[in-house]
Amino acid sequence: MLAGKRILLIIGGGIAAYKSLDLIRRLKERGAAVTPVLTRAAEEFVTPLSAGALAGAKAYRHLFDLTDEAEMGHIQLSRAADLVVVAPATADLLARMAGGHADDLASTLLLATDKRVLVAPAMNVRMWQHPATRRNLAALLADGVLCAGPNDGDMACGEYGPGRMAEPLEIVAAVEAALGAGLLKGRHVIVTSGPTHEPIDPVRYIANRSSGAQGTALAAALRDLGADVTFVSGPASVPPPPGVRLRRVETAAEMLAAVRGALPADAAVFAAAVADWHVANASGSKMKKDGSGKAPALRFAENPDILATVAGMKAGRPALVVGFAAETDDVIAHASAKRLRKGCDWIVANDVRPATGIMGGQENAVTLITGAGAEDWPRLPKDEVARRLAARIAERLARGPDAEASGGDI
Ligand code: C5P
Repeated sequence: MLAGKRILLIIGGGIAAYKSLDLIRRLKERGAAVTPVLTRAAEEFVTPLSAGALAGAKAYRHLFDLTDEAEMGHIQLSRAADLVVVAPATADLLARMAGGHADDLASTLLLATDKRVLVAPAMNVRMWQHPATRRNLAALLADGVLCAGPNDGDMACGEYGPGRMAEPLEIVAAVEAALGAGLLKGRHVIVTSGPTHEPIDPVRYIANRSSGAQGTALAAALRDLGADVTFVSGPASVPPPPGVRLRRVETAAEMLAAVRGALPADAAVFAAAVADWHVANASGSKMKKDGSGKAPALRFAENPDILATVAGMKAGRPALVVGFAAETDDVIAHASAKRLRKGCDWIVANDVRPATGIMGGQENAVTLITGAGAEDWPRLPKDEVARRLAARIAERLARGPDAEASGGDI
């Protein structure tokens, strides 16, 4: 619920602006007060009248509108909100935000505000992928700007790919998460992420296809709720999020050592795809073909199970220990058994058969298995799964385990 929350909604000039009208409705339904601001380009797509009518409030437009300045100056307008939302955030608006421009009402409000800003980018796929947009977004994220979407899909311009604005309900969820900022203040959460690399010799290793995307999104979502996050990452293909304590590791043994070194923690989430085995007879020098045609015999030894080790700690166990289960068949049965076997509180289970496109992809369809049962979540972008999971972690740490345990194990 967003009762009593004030949202300043900046509507940029893109075809997705029509969805911002629905966003106003959805925010209002949840009790938020919405003040719309339209850029000049936005007025080509939606009218101040419709935005204002849906918001039940004046829609602001121009910087030098003297009536507005008399009623409420732009500095005051930028601060009289709990959150500033930019939807759609066009490539141009992101560039102007990243550059600190203040040449119209929207950009001036964004520069003057002392509140958090959430952007919902929407643009053509090539514009989204352009290095300039990537640079601008990276700069904004590093400044602490929050981002919802964009999603993959058919675009109004006839192309397909990332660049479609997040759906209004996804933006609402991001708004709720952003306003929950502080829910995890003072809490320390450890997140493991990415694959591990287990050396065969100094130049070769055994790895897996984990990109680290879900763990990275989760660390960012926990950070956004105010948690102090230790992010223990194997060699992932997605960059680590800013604003977390990064511990880079390669092997499972190093990951366990980094996790131990990061304890104590209030919660620990094990999203890493840890190799089950390492090569016991890894060579200290590069293995060479000896011309005999005989392949070297690798001997494997089991890696420590980091999740089970932490979940089974007698002293200093985090209050909430969450594991992931990537399964290819009988997902819920296997994941439920895994929860009990490993002694963790929750398991986030997902189906990683190649046909699902989940491993290495941008979306995830998970089932959250707790002591109270199994909850299927819809297929969602990984950062939305992360936000929901972070919100659940915050709720559980605030409430304690009692209610859940009374549901009985499944
Ligand atoms: O047994 P499996 O690898 O399927 O278990 C997955 C869960 O256990 C994940 O949460 C993963 O991060 C964790 N795990 C671990 N250490 C291992 C193997 C798995 O922490 N050696």
